[in-house]
Amino acid sequence: MKIAVLPGDGIGTEIVAEAVKVLRALDLGFEMEEALVGGAAYEAQGHPLPESTLKLAQQADAVLFGAVGDWKYDKLERALRPEQAILGLRKHLQLFANFRPAICYEQLTHASSLKPELVAGLDILIIRELTGDIYFGQPRGRRASPDGAFQGAPEAFDTMRYSRPEIERIAHVAFQAARKRGKKVTSVDKANVLETFQFWKDVVTEVHAQYPDVELDHMYVDNAAMQLVKAPKNFDVIVTGNMFGDILSDEAAMLTGSIGMLPSASLNDRKQGLYEPSHGSAPDIAGQGVANPLATILSAAMMLRFSLDQAEAADRIERAVKDVLAQGLRTADIHSEGTTRVGTKEMGDAVVARLKAQG
Ligand code: IPM
Ligand code: MN
Repeated sequence: MKIAVLPGDGIGTEIVAEAVKVLRALDLGFEMEEALVGGAAYEAQGHPLPESTLKLAQQADAVLFGAVGDWKYDKLERALRPEQAILGLRKHLQLFANFRPAICYEQLTHASSLKPELVAGLDILIIRELTGDIYFGQPRGRRASPDGAFQGAPEAFDTMRYSRPEIERIAHVAFQAARKRGKKVTSVDKANVLETFQFWKDVVTEVHAQYPDVELDHMYVDNAAMQLVKAPKNFDVIVTGNMFGDILSDEAAMLTGSIGMLPSASLNDRKQGLYEPSHGSAPDIAGQGVANPLATILSAAMMLRFSLDQAEAADRIERAVKDVLAQGLRTADIHSEGTTRVGTKEMGDAVVARLKAQG
């Protein structure tokens, strides 16, 4: 089994190093190969997703990804910005199914900005379609002004679109995921306004006929945004399009009070996947050794479960993470009175120590 390791920018290198440490401690004989991506790749090789990095990712069974981006690249032309690396990987590897769990850990209930009773025990799963919608729809661009100038252009446009197969396959993923948990899917759309999402709703409803054991309801995205902060525990699995999923998954992450704890997985239909923390590159704290590596370590656990057929090892990592929280160890982002503040490396070491102690 081969893992492509793409740390990226900012805290990406620090947190991925800890996840690699945890994977090595499992001693499962994985081959791991590292490559540059994002701003780091742009600086060294002139492109955020160099051909060699893409090739490594394509040939691997799974990709462990850190984070990309820094404000200093904001002025680059779009094709060279760090974000293009992750969008390019999603498109080239056809990673259409993005799993973003929002779990509120018992010890961190009070870190949420919502009342503890609203989030205690929260465990919802957002399944975001990741390779379609307005993110990739053509045509897109800027209409040139009469003199051909880009800056003074009169208009810009993007295209929201979904094909039937794109909706069908993500709907299947959602119903199958729901079967393994609360057996309830909420499909989020904007069918009252957008034709694309009336179509989404129709196709999801059709696919649902094959899953009579799973409950399906439909919700407009504006209402979903409201329900997420009103009664988040009413959700089980949420399935939605690329853009709504982008927005709602950040909202859901914040309910848990600890974006530094949340992993994510992006899968194609060959079980190949890209695994990354739900948070970004945090350039403001990069290089200080204070970032929380747990989201990346938990992403490695998802990788073991979904792409590498090592469910037991995944369970072990998740147990080890719960153990270090129970020990009271906290990085700065989740630190509170009465707990022990540790840095990135110490947190990684603590997880490894718990793994070893499991015997
Ligand atoms: C995410 C990010 C990306 C997205 C950006 C960095 C392209 O916000 O993974 O949610 O919009 O999908
Ligand atoms: Mn996002």
